[in-house]
Amino acid sequence: MPTYIVLLGPPGAGKGTQAQILAKSTNLAHVSSGDLFRENLKNQTELGKLAKSFMDKGELVPDDVTIKMIRDRISRPDCEAGAILDGFPRTPAQATALERMLLDFKGEVNLVPYITAAENILVERASGRWTCRAHGHIYHEKFNPPKQAGVCDVDGSEVYQRDDDKVETVAKRIRVYLEQTMPLVDYYRKAGKLAEIDGTQAVEQVTKQMLAALKK
Ligand code: AP5
Ligand code: MG
Repeated sequence: MPTYIVLLGPPGAGKGTQAQILAKSTNLAHVSSGDLFRENLKNQTELGKLAKSFMDKGELVPDDVTIKMIRDRISRPDCEAGAILDGFPRTPAQATALERMLLDFKGEVNLVPYITAAENILVERASGRWTCRAHGHIYHEKFNPPKQAGVCDVDGSEVYQRDDDKVETVAKRIRVYLEQTMPLVDYYRKAGKLAEIDGTQAVEQVTKQMLAALKK
């Protein structure tokens, strides 16, 4: 049976950072809805242009297109063993849709690590983030700088600051998260799938806590 892990948490909590590490140590694919939208934008697809109009405002992209994009992605062969879902689901409608689509793959959501951190930390993390152009590898100017300024350690591509990482947009994204995504915390807690992770710890400590939750 495939394994599906849903990473839940506010913008800047460290979902992408942890998903990239976990994907390396498991046989699970890293599926990030934000990265998929950014990839679409890079390729100038209609979906990419539509997504950008919401992302720039710090708002969520509509459920229907987001759900379809994720369904297509997790149908691909590299997700046969399952996936680490980073940034999806983000609304109750997306969570219900996910449950339905996983039935088709004979799977279910197995664990929901919920990474938390206070708002001032989230803003500091997002506003100092640098992202690699080629594959979305994640850095931070203070907490995790690339070895050579401006260049990704892994693939040598340029690193850039996301348009939606401006302080005002991050604040808006946090508000949207509280309004639209927070209900999922209770939803997964009631389902007995939530594992609360203290995201204020160092990256390695967060990973340790995640791996311990996975073992259980
Ligand atoms: P998305 O790309 O998913 O952004 P997000 O959820 O706002 O989360 P972030 O990527 O900002 O944070 P993260 O938790 O991944 O943190 P990271 O590891 O990078 O979504 C962007 C937009 O796309 C949305 O606003 C929306 O418009 C749209 N969208 C996406 N999914 C959608 C959906 N399902 N439905 C509708 N719309 C959707 O870390 C942040 C920084 O902190 C980095 O610099 C990192 O190096 C650093 N850091 C990480 N961990 C630590 C640590 N432990 N200590 C110190 N620094 C750390
Ligand atoms: Mg991310």
